[in-house]
Amino acid sequence: MNVRTFTLSSAFLAVLAAPTFAADKVDVNAGKTLHDQQCKACHVQRWGGDGSAVYTRPDRKIKDAKALGQRVAMCSTQTSAKFFPEDEANVSAYLAQQFYKFK
Ligand code: HEC
Repeated sequence: MNVRTFTLSSAFLAVLAAPTFAADKVDVNAGKTLHDQQCKACHVQRWGGDGSAVYTRPDRKIKDAKALGQRVAMCSTQTSAKFFPEDEANVSAYLAQQFYKFK
């Protein structure tokens, strides 16, 4: 197992093991910056506007914070973003606060 594989899979496991983000440790602004740099363009291409319709459409896929954390981890692994676990937590927190507003 090379270093890169190890980093990615441990990041993924960390998210699975800690599906909720400790509110006092996350940085929503940092999450927004990362999201806007790494994730937004593709969503804009497909959904137009600022791309956030993917998060607010009536048939959106993500229903809770746990699923959001897993989805962000998966997306960051599959795209070129390659976030660290704290980046994923920040991006998840930003999306939850700004768009998902889970009850
Ligand atoms: C190459 C294009 C592309 C990139 C880059 C991308 N996404 Fe997506 N994203 C999509 C598509 C397409 C969907 C809708 C998939 C579906 O409907 O199942 C989606 C859906 C999502 C959803 C679920 C929305 C819902 O239904 O509730 C989340 C969360 C998400 N993306 C987060 C991210 C994050 C975080 C990043 C950056 C690490 C990212 N995406 C990068 C294409 C992309």
